[in-house]
Amino acid sequence: MKFASDNNGPVHPKIMEAIVRANEGHVPAYGNDALTAAAKDKVREVFEAPEASVFFLPTGTAANSLILGSLTKPWETIFCANFAHIHVDECHAPEAFTNGAKLTPVGKRIDKFNSEELESAISAFSPENMQQSAHGPVSVTQVTERGTLYTLEEIRAIAQVCRNARVPLHMDGARFANAAAALGCTAAEMSWKVGVDAVSFGATKNGAMAVEAAVIFDPVLAVEFRRRQQRAALVFSKSRYLAAQMEAYLTDGLWLELAGEANRLAALLEDGIEGIDGVKFAFKREANMMFVWMPRFVHRALMEAGAYYYIEAGELEGDDPHEPLLGRFVCDWSVEEAGIARFAEVAQAARP
Ligand SMILES: Cc1ncc(COP(=O)(O)O)c(C=O)c1O
Repeated sequence: MKFASDNNGPVHPKIMEAIVRANEGHVPAYGNDALTAAAKDKVREVFEAPEASVFFLPTGTAANSLILGSLTKPWETIFCANFAHIHVDECHAPEAFTNGAKLTPVGKRIDKFNSEELESAISAFSPENMQQSAHGPVSVTQVTERGTLYTLEEIRAIAQVCRNARVPLHMDGARFANAAAALGCTAAEMSWKVGVDAVSFGATKNGAMAVEAAVIFDPVLAVEFRRRQQRAALVFSKSRYLAAQMEAYLTDGLWLELAGEANRLAALLEDGIEGIDGVKFAFKREANMMFVWMPRFVHRALMEAGAYYYIEAGELEGDDPHEPLLGRFVCDWSVEEAGIARFAEVAQAARP
């Protein structure tokens, strides 16, 4: 009953084996080895983008911050969703790596925004007004921080607004694979083909140990990335170990297989608890993460039975057994079906 995070899961054996295979002898450091070149080519192949610049990084925050750092001037503002990870969960790393750019949350919903909302947010910044920020890049997260998805049409419409405003579009794809698997589309279809200029392409949450790729489709936009990466102390000398992970992740569609499995397990979990009295999904489950209101007594029964997940809103301690508390449930490929069945059983049997 482990649903706290896809970060909590193990490394997939095929990826671990690839790291061990890479652990042989001396090879050139700092990304000058054959495995790094091959893994970068593989990313380009998967994204059908032979010209793309690819950089391997150990964390998603690094990928987001360095991409945004490369795309943003210090006096610009980056547009993102209200609950964007870059806005609320990176302790100002994007602001630091852009040398002080600002972030402007967009839209009424907390998880995502639409093209009209973006247009109106951008139009609030006049290029003539030197006292304001200048409008800068736009960032969308796919899967969103609340487990929902942007459709390809929604991304295309957002990209059109970006093009009209002459600003680049970044995608935080910490769960890119889960989104592609859920939408049944290719990496290219969910990125440059709908107007995305740069992707933080996650692998860690979906079976890798620690590797994300910054994928920048226009080499001109990537010109400054490498120096920023160096300045940020984020150039891995033993690059082969990052590359080995990415190479294995993308071989024979492992990335989509693992994400599809995580999504399937999340759907099973959803089926198991849907319809229980007092259980209400805060957002539609669309991939491998869900946010669910459940009465306190249900949470207590689950926690007592050993379930492990985060409560996002409300306290487990409290007098009213019926008070709804918001739980966050995430599945990775390794979650056990037996744990899902047990979770549903305990939730269904819980009494105040
Ligand atoms: C949507 C999203 N973006 C970025 C990140 C950052 O990843 P990391 O913790 O590897 O820096 C996370 C991690 O939870 C995330 O959920």
